[in-house]
Amino acid sequence: MIIQENIPLAAYTTFKIGGPARFFCVALNERDLLEAVKFAKGKGLPIFILGGGSNILISDDGFSGLVIKVELKGIIYRELDHGAVAVSASAGEIWDDLVGETVSRGLYGLENLSAIPGTVGASPVQNIGAYGVEVSNSIESIRILDIEQMKVVELSNPDFHFTYRDSLFKREKGRYIIVGVNFELGKKGKLNTDYKDIQEYFFQKSVLEPTLSEVRQAIMEIRSKKLPDWKKWGTAGSFFKNPIVSVERWHELKNKYPDMPHFVEPDDRIKVALGWILDKLCDAKGLVMGNVGTYENQALVIIAKPGATAKEVIDFSRELIKRVKDKTGIDIEGEVEWVC
Ligand code: EPU
Repeated sequence: MIIQENIPLAAYTTFKIGGPARFFCVALNERDLLEAVKFAKGKGLPIFILGGGSNILISDDGFSGLVIKVELKGIIYRELDHGAVAVSASAGEIWDDLVGETVSRGLYGLENLSAIPGTVGASPVQNIGAYGVEVSNSIESIRILDIEQMKVVELSNPDFHFTYRDSLFKREKGRYIIVGVNFELGKKGKLNTDYKDIQEYFFQKSVLEPTLSEVRQAIMEIRSKKLPDWKKWGTAGSFFKNPIVSVERWHELKNKYPDMPHFVEPDDRIKVALGWILDKLCDAKGLVMGNVGTYENQALVIIAKPGATAKEVIDFSRELIKRVKDKTGIDIEGEVEWVC
C-alpha cells in the first residue's frame, strides 16, 4: 500500500470543496487498514476515514493527518433457515449498488434507502434514513477494526445504540473503522409506503399494491426531484438534522405554527421538519449568498457553485442557524460532518 503526501481532497467529496490531506492512502483489505493505522499511530497523526465523501465538508486548509480511503469490496449472500437472507457487504461497496442488487434479488429491507450516495461503510455511522426507514432496521452486526486494541471484531446491532442520525461511531469518534456490514433481509416483507411523497406518487400512477422494485423506482424518482443534481452542484444533501424537541416545546410551537410537519419519535419526543421551518418561517428556500445557497426545491439542502469555499458554506450555515433560532428558539445541529 502506498502512502501519498499532499493529496487534494475536494474531488473525493460531493461538496467538491476542501484543501489537501497531509497523508493519503487507499485501503483494499483489512491488512491495508492495519498498516495505515500503524503508520498514523507511529507519527502521532489523526486519522480520517473517507468513504463516498457525500456527508462531509472539508476545511479549506485540508486535513493535517492521514486520510484512509476505504475501498474494501465484496458482497456475500447466505440463505438463513427462517426465510431470510444474510447479506455481508464490505465497507467500500457503493451503497446504492447494494440496494439495487438486493432489490433485484427480491430481498426486502433496503428499498426505501434507494439513491442515497455514499458507501456501505458510511451507512451505519449516521444511521442513514429516508421515507420512514433507517439502515439500522436491517443491520444484524458490523465488522469493525478497533483502533485502540488494534483488532478486528464483530459487534451486534444493539451494541451500536442507533437512534435518528446517530450511532456509537459518532459518540466514540475515531475509535472504530467499519470493515463490513452484515444485513438480514427478508425474502418476503411488508413495503413501507406510508410516507406522504410515496403515497402521492402511487396515487398519481393509480398503483394500489406496488411491488418491491416499483418502490425503489418511486424513491429514485422522488429523490431526483427533491435533491439537486450531484454532478452540477456541490452538496451533501440535508445539511442539518431535523431537530427533536420535547412534547412541551412542541405544543408551544404547534400553537404558533399549526401547519408545522412533525413526526413522533420512538421515545415520544417530536421531530420537526427543519426544511419547512427554513422555507416557511425563515424565508430561506432558494436563498443565495455568494457561491452558496439552499436548494430551490428543498431548503434543508445546501448547494455550492464550483469554486465555493468551505468558509462560505460555514458562513451561510451560520446565517441559517441564526434565522431558525430567532424564529423558533431552536438550536439546530449539522448533519454533515466537518473535517479539519
Ligand atoms: N418542506 C418544506 N419546504 C422545504 C423542505 C421541506 O415545506 O423546503 C416540508 C415538506 O413538505 C415535508 C417536510 O418539510 O412536509 C419534510 O420534508 P421532506 O419530506 O423533504 O424530508 P426532510 O425531513 O427534509 C429527511 C431526511 C432526508 C430524506 C427525507 C425523506 C434528514 C436530515 N433528512 O428530509 O435525508 O431523504 O427525510 O425521508 O433527516 C439526507 O440526510 O441527506 C437526506 C436527504
